[in-house]
Amino acid sequence: MILSATASADSAGTGWSGWVLVVAAALVSGLLIAGPALRRRWPVAWWVCLGFPAAWLRVVRTWRPLMAGCGLALSRKAALTVVSGLVGNGAPPPQPRVPRRGLIRPTAGGFCLLVRLLPGQVPDDFAKVAPAMAHNWEVHAVRVSESRPGVVRIVASASDPLKEPRLPRQRGTGQMLRVVVGVLETGTRWVMDLRQIPHWLIVGATRSGKSTLINALVAGLARQPVALVGIDCEGGMELSLYRPRLSALATNRAQAVKLLGSLVDLTLDRMTLCREARVRNVWGLPEKKRPVPIVVIVDELAELFLVASRSEKEEAQAAGTALIRLAQLGAALGVFLVVAGQRVGSDLGPGVTALRAQLGGRVCHRVADPGTAEMALGDLNPDALHAAQSISPEAAGTAVLASADGWDRARSYLVSEEEAERVAEEYADLTPYLPELVGAGEEPSVVRLDRIDPNDLDD
Ligand SMILES: Nc1ncnc2c1ncn2[C@@H]1O[C@H](COP(=O)(O)OP(=O)(O)OP(=O)(O)O)[C@@H](O)[C@H]1O
Ligand SMILES: [Mg+2]
Repeated sequence: MILSATASADSAGTGWSGWVLVVAAALVSGLLIAGPALRRRWPVAWWVCLGFPAAWLRVVRTWRPLMAGCGLALSRKAALTVVSGLVGNGAPPPQPRVPRRGLIRPTAGGFCLLVRLLPGQVPDDFAKVAPAMAHNWEVHAVRVSESRPGVVRIVASASDPLKEPRLPRQRGTGQMLRVVVGVLETGTRWVMDLRQIPHWLIVGATRSGKSTLINALVAGLARQPVALVGIDCEGGMELSLYRPRLSALATNRAQAVKLLGSLVDLTLDRMTLCREARVRNVWGLPEKKRPVPIVVIVDELAELFLVASRSEKEEAQAAGTALIRLAQLGAALGVFLVVAGQRVGSDLGPGVTALRAQLGGRVCHRVADPGTAEMALGDLNPDALHAAQSISPEAAGTAVLASADGWDRARSYLVSEEEAERVAEEYADLTPYLPELVGAGEEPSVVRLDRIDPNDLDD
């Protein structure tokens, strides 16, 4: 009786393990077949559940041979090897010391780990072998940086995040004057934060992605309680897309000079307001009194500066001076500049170099002449120059970003003209009415009395 009970328990156990095996095999083959589709649909979930465990295993398995192969291991002392040979009765001599690594942590599109340096090592020794690490771990790229003295941080990206950046679904208005416009090479979001860096210079050859980046920026800002002002002296071909959401638009240089003059006057009025309230910037004013932030977008800077005759020279100088004044005063008074151009060189006029110095945020797409890349990035970070010059025409939208802290490669989200136009139309009722700008720029886009009063806007 007992025997037959044991036999049936055994057969039940075998049956269960059989089922488990069948289910596991079905799961694995299902994942293998549906893997590529799952990866495309839910890249982060795919990476965390499948990609990361496999990469983790590769790093753990190859750490020691990789460090030894790349010359990053330290041999034990010869005496120790001899003693261990004698004492250990022919046992293998002790292994060389390899740098100690910390936990391997997953990130959205890769992983990172900290590594303690061995005596005599510097972070550069690890940076040099980053390509070898990428090959061994079968990842797209590995970047090495110093975390703190004696410790380096290794960040690996599993695939190229710049290949096809996908526009995340926009929820709410986001933080004021802060827009996610693309992705960085590290897999993190590329944020243009005008509160942090108020003025931007965007350069790039024709069809390199300048307008697409402005589309992404405007699509984000259009949802926020900010005024957008356009200066597009190529007849408004690029910026007139956003016309319903613009508080003013200048489509030729004469209008641009007038509009910039009005903006300077408005900025000076704000300065008086701040002085009377004894605050250092508009953000210190009470919410009800705080004037609406204004983002001035200039597409094709050269059109403002190029001169063919004497009368044009005066106009160009007036435009240049007004832009420089806005850049100098604007940040504290809620006026921000985003200036785009194909070619930005000192040959455009003396004002260009002075203006460039005021534009702290730099974005350099593929450029036709090294001078423009140098103008955009050179005085901030010479290393970034090489990266900017190697952007291929197929990778439109890819750019090198430079700031005082360093540089990064990034790619903007592909926000089409139609999409930008739709967003501008959808949020047209948020367009602030700025009476100070009436008369400057194109009338129909300026005078819209149904627009909201800037004093009613919240931060
Ligand atoms: N981030 C991106 N991702 C994918 N494709 C892009 C991206 N940015 C731009 N492109 C492609 O490049 C084309 C040209 O881009 P865009 O119009 O932004 O260039 P541009 O620098 O403004 O050119 P121009 O100086 O002639 O106005 C786009 O129509 C699009 O097909
Ligand atoms: Mg363009």
